[in-house]
Parts: sequence; structure tokens; C-alpha cells
Amino acid sequence: MWWTVIVDENVIFVVMRHFALILAAFAALSCGPRPQEETMTQLAERVFRLASRQTIYMDSLLSARQQAPDAVLCPRTFQGDSLVTSDIGWWCSGFYPGVLWQVYEYSGDETFKALAVKHTRPLEALLGRETDHDIGFQLMSSFGRMARDTGDPSCGSILRAGARTLAARFVPEAGVLRSWNGSRWTIPVIIDNMMNLELLMDYGDREVAEKHALTTARNHFREDGTTFHLVDYDYDGAILGRQTVQGYADNSAWARGQAWALYGYAMMARKEREAGNAALAKTFYDIAAKLEGWILPRLPEDGVPYWDFSQTDYRDASAGAIIASALLDLHALRNGGPDDPALKTAEKILRTLASPDYLSEPGTNGGFLLRHSVGSLPGNSEVDVPLTYADYYFLEALLAFPENGR
Ligand code: GLY
Repeated sequence: MWWTVIVDENVIFVVMRHFALILAAFAALSCGPRPQEETMTQLAERVFRLASRQTIYMDSLLSARQQAPDAVLCPRTFQGDSLVTSDIGWWCSGFYPGVLWQVYEYSGDETFKALAVKHTRPLEALLGRETDHDIGFQLMSSFGRMARDTGDPSCGSILRAGARTLAARFVPEAGVLRSWNGSRWTIPVIIDNMMNLELLMDYGDREVAEKHALTTARNHFREDGTTFHLVDYDYDGAILGRQTVQGYADNSAWARGQAWALYGYAMMARKEREAGNAALAKTFYDIAAKLEGWILPRLPEDGVPYWDFSQTDYRDASAGAIIASALLDLHALRNGGPDDPALKTAEKILRTLASPDYLSEPGTNGGFLLRHSVGSLPGNSEVDVPLTYADYYFLEALLAFPENGR
């Protein structure tokens, strides 16, 4: 009958429509690419667009603060609605110039090159001063990037002079570079010092850097692969004590300390690999890989660690950014595929940092990119604030992310 056919067709149509909707819902819920998700290339574009606005804004805040035309102010943090600045002697003085160099590397825009030069040049004065081990951080993030980005020959002599100053801190009997000057310790060495070795590896005495890294590998690490913050040595190399000054407890895993160790040993492995020293490259890689194996399962769901792995109060975006950058280095060292947990974790951390939970709105936060870092909680200093090095390693990781390779 004609009406039976019509009813049947309607029934078939309704059933098919429901079936199609169910299939679509199932496809959306199951794995496979999420077409609406921002790619890492798009994410980097968004962050670097913000960085270009924020760095110019920060430069204007610094200029407004300047008392004398030749006074040099470095951004340190943003607290109580105000930009907190430092002199070039503060260990972080190279990171804002370094952020400017990275914006220039990404965009090729000469505005940022000029700003980067303006904020890099004053750091040359460090060579005429008493410094500590952080001369590596200060010079590599500023002049080190300028040397790479411009080929300016004056950078090489500044970096070589800085490397000689750093090498002069070596205590041969103990096999380490002293970290801090006059203090309550005898020869204090902090794990952060691994980062300063890059200056020696590129511009100075590589053997001193290798000895320091090998002594640190023997004495700083615990059975589980995590590191103490500070080891105090006597002049004959005997160990006087082990502490975690900026962490929750001597035996806890201070997040940024783990980040410095992860990054520092991955960096050393890469330098040795590039120099054809396979045995040392493996020694350093294995230390980083063991620590990586400890860190990855202990990161929170969104990837950004708390300031100490034993705590659940304040996040530390700086530790997250450094870990992300180090994981990308390890991923490259092992020629990891797309499912490498190091790559996946780095992506997760970067996506979280680029979310409104961490990323500033343009024209706010003193020109910093990221919120929620911790300088030293036990010292009640810089808790839950923006910090220059969080921004620096965040951009570094974005530049290193495979899709954004330039
Ligand atoms: N290098 C000092 C710090 O990580 O706080």
C-alpha cells in the first residue's frame, strides 16, 4: 500500500539519522585528531605575538623607571602591581635580553634585534666585577644568543673572558667549580651550576666542565635518580654536607633543582655527542634519562610541577618550562618518535603554560609572559610570581618543539 511505503521510508530516514548522530558522537569521543585543537605551530605563533607586545611594554616600563640615562635596570619580577628590577649582578640579568633575542629569532623583526642589543651590551660590565658561578647564565642567555644570531665578533671575546672567570672558580682537589662566594659553607656547589657549564663547553675549558659534571654526578644524586640542591665540599674534596636550601626539606626533590639537573646533563650529553665523545655522552645522557624516569610519572595531570615534588600548594611555571625544554633535548638526543613520552609531556606542559591559567593578558603582569613561578619559598622570596627565566625557557622550548623547528 502506498501509505505503508511512506511510513517505512520515514522510519528508515529517522533510524538512519539517529545512527549517523550516534556514529558522529562516537567518533568525537574516540581517539583520532581533534580538528579544533590549536596546533603547536599556531600555539607558538600566538605566544610569540604576545611576547612581541609584552617585551616592548616591559622596555617602556624600564625606561620610565630609569633615573639616569646610563643607569641599567633589569626586570626581576612583578609584585604588588609594580615591576621589580635588579642590577646586572643579579643571576637573572641575561634572561630578558635572551627573551628579546628569541623574539627576534622567531620573527626576524629588526625592532627586537635593536632592543636585544640595547639590553645585552650593559652586561659586558660583569667582566670587571666580582661574579659567581652564574656568569654562565648571565652571559650565555644574552651574549651567547647574540653571537649566534648576529655573528658579531665582539661577542666571542666577551664570552671567552667570561669563561676564564668561571674556570678560575675550579678547585682541582675537589674537582668542582665553587658556586657561591663567601657564605656559611666551605665550597658550596649547587645543582644549578650544571647550567653554567655551557659557557665553558662553548667558549672555555671543556675539561673543567667535564670534571665538574662527573664529580656532581657522583655526589649530588640520590639512589632514585633525584638530586640534592647543595653539596658542601672541603678543600680536599671530602663532603661536608648535603642540603636542599630552596626546597621543602633536605631530602625532598626541589622542582627547579631537578629541572636544572635534567637540562644540565642533557646539554652536556649533546655537547659530548657533537664533539664525538660517545662514552661521556652516554654517561651524561644516562643520568638525565634516569631522572626523567623519576620526574614524568610524578608530574601533575597538567604537567606543571609544584615548587617541590613533595608539596601541593604552589606551582612553579619556571620548573615546568625548564623541564619542557630539557625533555625536547632528550627527545632529540634519542631520535624519539611521535609517541616518545618526553615529547608528549613537553607538549602537555607547553599547552598548559600557554593557557589562560598561566599566560598573561597583553599589557599586564609587568610585561612578563607567565604567571605562577616560585623563586625561593623557604626564603619567602618571589612566591607565585612571574620570573624572567620562566619566560626564557618557555620560549626556548617553543622554538625547539619539532613542528616549530627553524
Ligand atoms: N639558580 C637559582 C635558582 O634556580 O633559584
